[in-house]
Amino acid sequence: MRLFVAISLPAALRARLAGLQSGLPGARWVAPDNLHLTLRFIGEVDGLAAHDIDAALSEIRAPRFALTFAGVDRFGGSRTRSIWVGVEENDALAALRVKVEHAVRRAGQAPVGGKYKPHVTLARFKANPGARLHAYLARHALFRAAPIPVEEFVLYSSTLARGGATYTQQAAYALSGAAR
Ligand code: 2AM
Repeated sequence: MRLFVAISLPAALRARLAGLQSGLPGARWVAPDNLHLTLRFIGEVDGLAAHDIDAALSEIRAPRFALTFAGVDRFGGSRTRSIWVGVEENDALAALRVKVEHAVRRAGQAPVGGKYKPHVTLARFKANPGARLHAYLARHALFRAAPIPVEEFVLYSSTLARGGATYTQQAAYALSGAAR
């Protein structure tokens, strides 16, 4: 199965983000129910590896925290691949991300290169969105959502289909007040 570790978003925030999903012809908007913040993409693994990953993630002890989504930007520069909402700098998120990374490696997964940039993908593009993108990004540059409480993180499996991906929660891991 194809796995990733993410933070799920409350319905009110997803609705708010869905309000950003218009005004760009050619955008393949992510279904609002699928909007999420990935902590670690794992990819295709077998059942044994999935079990080891779940066991390692279960051992993580980290505190709850508040998370604020703000700003709209793109990946891919002038050859834009996707647009996304960012998060305000957050030490607790960064610490959790490191713990997840270590757990996944402990479970035998290879490290992935590249810098982690927390984001919620709003839309992907097959063809370059062109000039309208500048106006779109300018219009939403000051987007900022009310902070959300993060009380757990989730292991999802992803099934790819023509109509888009289907995400299924495999396990959830509670955060606590007690940092370790
Ligand atoms: P994205 O939204 O920027 O595409 C499920 O696919 C989640 O894992 C998405 O949030 C996706 O990020 C993320 N992800 C990270 N690396 C990926 C990869 N190599 N292939 C697919 N998804 C990846």
